[in-house]
Amino acid sequence: MLELNGKRILLGITGGIAAYKAAELVRLLRRSNAEVQVVMTKAATEFITPLTLQTLSGRTVRQDFFDANDEATIGHIDLARWADLILIAPATADFMARLAHGRANDLLSTLCLATTAPIALAPAMNRQMWLNPATQTNASLLQTRGVTLWGPAEGEQACGETGPGRMLEPAALLSQAVKQFSHQPLAGQSVLLTAGPTQEPIDPVRFIGNRSSGKMGFALAQAFIETGAQVHLIAGPVTLATPRGATRIDVATAHEMQQQVSAHLSRCNIFVACAAVADYRPETVAAEKIKKSREQLALTLIKNPDILAEVAASATPPFTVGFAAETEQLIKHAQEKRRLKRVDMIAANLVGAEQGGFERDENALTVLWEGGRKELPMARKEKLAQSLAATIIERYYAKKHPTENP
Ligand code: C5P
Repeated sequence: MLELNGKRILLGITGGIAAYKAAELVRLLRRSNAEVQVVMTKAATEFITPLTLQTLSGRTVRQDFFDANDEATIGHIDLARWADLILIAPATADFMARLAHGRANDLLSTLCLATTAPIALAPAMNRQMWLNPATQTNASLLQTRGVTLWGPAEGEQACGETGPGRMLEPAALLSQAVKQFSHQPLAGQSVLLTAGPTQEPIDPVRFIGNRSSGKMGFALAQAFIETGAQVHLIAGPVTLATPRGATRIDVATAHEMQQQVSAHLSRCNIFVACAAVADYRPETVAAEKIKKSREQLALTLIKNPDILAEVAASATPPFTVGFAAETEQLIKHAQEKRRLKRVDMIAANLVGAEQGGFERDENALTVLWEGGRKELPMARKEKLAQSLAATIIERYYAKKHPTENP
């Protein structure tokens, strides 16, 4: 009955005839003890009144940016952070198109852009609109970005036709929401991740760095949060929002990253080294800005600690996962790296002109472990991170309970 105890669900309602069913959905979500904040598009208010939903949800229904002027209501960014799940039911073809294009032309689409919470859509539209290649392309694109589609169902439609496009019934949406929150294989487990580049100072204004954006590590942190893990994210200098629920520790140098990793290591079950740690750092850091008076300048570089190898070599190592970006002979080099560093698993990817990798939104990975491998095809990093997290969890439990079937 109270399966959604305390979960914060932002229910987006867009303008379709199925909007009338949102009232029942709010009632069921509330009965399962979820907190429900309704956000409606303007078109949705033509189908069902905000007052109905306000009464059922017990919260002021939000409709546009400007109602945040009221001191008592929370602003749109805070609202995006507030949600544990954004569920759009019904989701019209137009809303899906706007979401696919990253539009932020009303409150609901803006919240979807600004959130780090999972987004689920319950499409509802005429069957031709659903089957239209434009809608199908939008649906696939959204899925590759990690948006989940619940439905649509097949059957009789309000327009008199029969086919796919009906919104799932409120009870079915409720059980999807319950499933979403209960599928938490890492509940009670702790994951430590490094992400982003490191910056090794040369003098007070210059440093040696690299092009890592940190996107993969942050997406992976988000994916682990969704599996119920407690997540600590040790981040080099990046301009990314902290995944909600993660504890973020900012560092600049490899040395600082190493210190923070060892400070948090004892409590972690899984360690994932996503960071592109600078292999070398200047031996000395000039106290003052180096002048450009000399024709040549030689820097002596010394090796940085290999954080991943150190963790793997510790007395009671967690399940360790590293990355290997290679320009050729991917599998051979990655396997060598895995054995050399004695890590449980390596996620390898080819870097170079046409591939994913640094600074890109997409990537493909080959995951290797002792006696096995798995290909994770090219996908947005958010989606890829979910697949990688699932693979890590599978191998983590296989190692922990070797006699049981995974
Ligand atoms: O040896 P290479 O840099 O290719 O290994 C990459 C893997 O090792 C990544 O998982 C990276 O985060 C980790 N690493 C590390 N500390 C270093 C260098 C790499 O943790 N100093």
